[in-house]
Amino acid sequence: MGIRVIAALVIISGFVFAPCPAFAQQPKAPKGINSERSLPDRYPYNVKDILKYCEPEKGFWVDLGAGKGQLTIPLVEATDNPVIMVDPNADSLAQGLELAREKRLAHRLSAVVGVAEKLPFPDNSVDLLVSRGSIFFWSDQAKGLQEVYRVLRPGGKAMIGGGAGSGYPKEAVDELIRIRKERLHGDDAEKWQHFVEVRRPEQMHEWAAQAKIPEFEVAGKGAISADDPKVGQGVWLMFTKQK
Ligand SMILES: C[S@@+](CC[C@H](N)C(=O)[O-])C[C@H]1O[C@@H](n2cnc3c(N)ncnc32)[C@H](O)[C@@H]1O
Repeated sequence: MGIRVIAALVIISGFVFAPCPAFAQQPKAPKGINSERSLPDRYPYNVKDILKYCEPEKGFWVDLGAGKGQLTIPLVEATDNPVIMVDPNADSLAQGLELAREKRLAHRLSAVVGVAEKLPFPDNSVDLLVSRGSIFFWSDQAKGLQEVYRVLRPGGKAMIGGGAGSGYPKEAVDELIRIRKERLHGDDAEKWQHFVEVRRPEQMHEWAAQAKIPEFEVAGKGAISADDPKVGQGVWLMFTKQK
């Protein structure tokens, strides 16, 4: 009942605002991240992995830290299932909604301004929660993961992390890693070292353990490795809420 009210509210208004205390403190991405955008688009590969590993039931799907809907839109295109984007940045969400309108997907995409640490959804309501490139910026990862676990329905799935996707072309992933390794010693070295540091699988493991997620898997070897056959380059945390 509660979830129907929230879903209706979001869909009617297009936008719902929820308090977002963490936004002001978020660290900035290092300089040079934009040049990676000349490499092939990674999102369709991420969508393939999400569908392969989560096998989600159709229903209430959330993209947390959705930004401009970079992952949300290809996910909707691939499945036709509606998705709610959550992000503290209202301008990014507005751009995502605009792009969805241009692609005639507006009826399948909604947005809520909010943060991982205080998800604006009832307990046991979400069938699939995805989050790409965002957890590394949350102000309290353990709290955010507890919130994800709270809102998942029993049997609901989460896939949270970042990376290029297991099918991403080898030449492109090699180039991505080469550029990043070079930057570890360049002008903005400190920020790039932090970028790599927070994407270590051990770090993801620690956040999930702090959140007391009962059972989880961490796949991927981080920002500068593609030596993982399951997800390729990057790092992902996957779990299912226990029934
Ligand atoms: C690098 S962008 C990723 C955007 C998109 N998901 C993608 O894969 O391209 C990181 C996003 O996380 C959002 N973010 C930062 N702090 C957050 C928090 N505490 N809870 C949820 N999202 C947050 C930012 O506003 C930003 O849109």
